[in-house]
Amino acid sequence: MTSNIENIKNVVVVGAGLMGSGIAGMAAVAGFQVTIVDLDKKLLEKSKEQIAITLERVGRKKFKQNETKINEFIQNSLRNISDSTDLLEVVKNADIVIEAIVENLEAKQKMFQSIDKIAKPSAIFASNTSALPIREISKNSTRLDRFCGLHFFNPVAVMKLLEVIRIPETSETTYKTVMDFGAKMGKTCVTCKDTPGFIVNRLLLPYMSESVRMLERGDASKEDIDMAMKLGAGMPMGPFELSDLVGIDTMKNARDFYHRMAPENELFFPSPLINKMVQEGKLGLKTGEGFYNYK
Ligand code: 3HC
Repeated sequence: MTSNIENIKNVVVVGAGLMGSGIAGMAAVAGFQVTIVDLDKKLLEKSKEQIAITLERVGRKKFKQNETKINEFIQNSLRNISDSTDLLEVVKNADIVIEAIVENLEAKQKMFQSIDKIAKPSAIFASNTSALPIREISKNSTRLDRFCGLHFFNPVAVMKLLEVIRIPETSETTYKTVMDFGAKMGKTCVTCKDTPGFIVNRLLLPYMSESVRMLERGDASKEDIDMAMKLGAGMPMGPFELSDLVGIDTMKNARDFYHRMAPENELFFPSPLINKMVQEGKLGLKTGEGFYNYK
């Protein structure tokens, strides 16, 4: 069984949030024709601005002070991206569909079901879920052999990892194709079975949850916990800085999922602090305030 990577040209990314925008931008940099889709026009506008900022940062890093090359890089990448609110139309051309919508199992199932009969038979369906089971997400699909998880990390432009998740039905050709797709996007791919949180979040979430519990107990301030983990454990960011980057709502969704999975595990008991922050819209960097204030 060989990879079909040469047939992957059109990428449709569903969901113009933080992750969808990051994935779309970097797929465009890799030379794919990308369409980013969202029902919310405002979010598409915001996403376009975010992608442009990211491309500028990536371009500056790549071409140092060479303004001509930087501009060329940005323009070439932007030319590869379009946006749409009409998923059912744009999906007809897709070779791969990457879902990055809200972390809600039913919403993801419905989205994939709606495009199942419309997409080309050869198109691959992938979910960028942080923690939901890929097999459950694929439940209503008739193309289980072309279904997988592709879990990117935030910020997508910087983080070099891609987790590739196989369900039992994922074909060898699909697996090889998405591994090549990840490599073309400049990512190092690791493979994981369809287990809760896959590799990174399975290990990261208990650490992040315990950090919040530590703060709630009053053991140390968030500033000192962050400093301690950076200087004492070599982390690039402390857990609260990282929570703000990832999004407090995303952290809550992942934690709730673990709680449902292991209701007796105190580590994942609902956090009054996190729940309050979500209620108040303090979702981290994306809203200007989370554990820290960015306004
Ligand atoms: N887009 C493009 N480039 C970016 C960027 C972005 N959003 N953020 C940072 N960069 C680039 C900068 O331009 C800079 O480039 P340079 O080396 O040429 O100067 C480089 O990355 C370093 O950035 P900064 O100097 O601004 O800041 P730091 O050195 O503190 O790095 C960081 C920022 C890369 C975000 C680093 O702190 C880090 O690696 N943090 C941990 C992130 C992490 O763990 N992510 C995974 C979260 S879990 C997840 O995503 C899973 C999901 O399911 C929830």
